[in-house]
Amino acid sequence: MRIALIGADGQLGSDLLEVLKKKDLFPLYYPEFDVTDKERMKQKLESIKPDTIINTSAFNNVDAGEERIKEAFEVNSFAVRDLSFISLRLGAALMHFSSDYVFDGFKKSPYHEADKPNPLNVYGVSKLTGEYFIQNIMEKYYIIRTSGLYGEAGCKGKDYNFVDLMVQKAEKDEDTRIIDDQYTSPTWTFELAERIRDLLNGGKYGLYHMSSEGECTWFQFADKIFSLLGKRPPVTPVDAKSYGARAKRPLYSVLENRALKEIGIRDFSNWEGALKRYMKKKGYI
Ligand SMILES: NC(=O)c1ccc[n+]([C@@H]2O[C@H](COP(=O)([O-])OP(=O)(O)OC[C@H]3O[C@@H](n4cnc5c(N)ncnc54)[C@H](OP(=O)(O)O)[C@@H]3O)[C@@H](O)[C@H]2O)c1
Repeated sequence: MRIALIGADGQLGSDLLEVLKKKDLFPLYYPEFDVTDKERMKQKLESIKPDTIINTSAFNNVDAGEERIKEAFEVNSFAVRDLSFISLRLGAALMHFSSDYVFDGFKKSPYHEADKPNPLNVYGVSKLTGEYFIQNIMEKYYIIRTSGLYGEAGCKGKDYNFVDLMVQKAEKDEDTRIIDDQYTSPTWTFELAERIRDLLNGGKYGLYHMSSEGECTWFQFADKIFSLLGKRPPVTPVDAKSYGARAKRPLYSVLENRALKEIGIRDFSNWEGALKRYMKKKGYI
């Protein structure tokens, strides 16, 4: 398998680089490789001649997206349209990542692949538009919706990941407000990368939800991090309304990995077990 990996130093990209190292991999880094520069992207990919293109690039600062609408759509939608046409011409499969934020959160039980999206913010609309472009242009695609990512490299688009940020707060004994009415499934990028390898080996195209088993609020997530550290910084649970983030988010965006289970790919761990392994790997515990 000859794979072009876009965003190879992002938090998911760097774990994919490690997990897929036995494959014929061509890592691509921003800004030398910019998905919004269609002509240069086309030239580079034509010179690599991949049979699979993995696109981890994204504009993923959800709050900033409410104002930087053009940038969000350029990276999350129009670049994905361009990549789809390039992949089609090369005869390559395209793997692309989307988000739990394509849903509105009103369902209150885990969302599976047949549930109807209805994003509440610009980021979610731009990610869903990217999905629609792929589905309408290509046949050989994997669209993977995931949620609450954390990984060793830290989220490049947000300058931190939630776990590392909470570890810092605990070390400084800092007072923090954390949202306690938004449910998610935090997902370790290393576990996600391992299952992506299995998915690629199976070659079954389609739309997949891929996130940890179980669910928690961001406050419960933080609480688990603090208890693993054996520290108790002065945190205050708040509701999303009083927290007042710029972008509206779904109050419940837990994903059910239904399609993945149907093709027999091994289950993700429960989020608490994965978190513990991540914190051990990072040397936090
Ligand atoms: N993070 C989450 O919680 C989360 C949740 C659900 C879904 N997702 C999706 O999962 C995927 C991976 O997320 P992640 O957390 O690994 O993101 P990340 O750490 O921010 O990595 C994104 C990568 O894309 C690169 N990039 C940014 N703009 C680019 C451009 N115009 N052209 C080429 N590369 C560009 C970044 O490079 P620089 O660092 O140099 O800018 C970085 O290497 C994304 O599609 C994201 O939307 C993430």
